Amino acid sequence: MIQLSPAAADEIHRLRARTSLPEARFRLSVQPGGCLDYYYHLSFDAAVSSDDVILNLNGIEVVVDQPSLALLSDLTIDYSEDLMGGSFRFYNPNAGENCGCGNSFSLPLKD
Ligand code: FES
Repeated sequence: MIQLSPAAADEIHRLRARTSLPEARFRLSVQPGGCLDYYYHLSFDAAVSSDDVILNLNGIEVVVDQPSLALLSDLTIDYSEDLMGGSFRFYNPNAGENCGCGNSFSLPLKD
């Protein structure tokens, strides 16, 4: 099950309040690319398609398409700030390798 930390939920609330699409839901997806095979993509999206799943995580409606959901089960999203600024942090136990910034991952090699 995907987890959203309270800090991540607070940041999503803050960002949504600043968008021009207040009715848009938070969309989490995986796209091919990044420094490894895939990268996490976060957006606000007013559209929901028939293969989307809507999760209620910490008071946030999170839209995830089925192919992304297959790669994101057990993902935890957190948000933290340091001297370089704030960013979402991804903890994906299903990843085989994570890139240095944590936004890209590969799948484990199969035997
Ligand atoms: S996507 Fe290049 S270091 Fe993370």
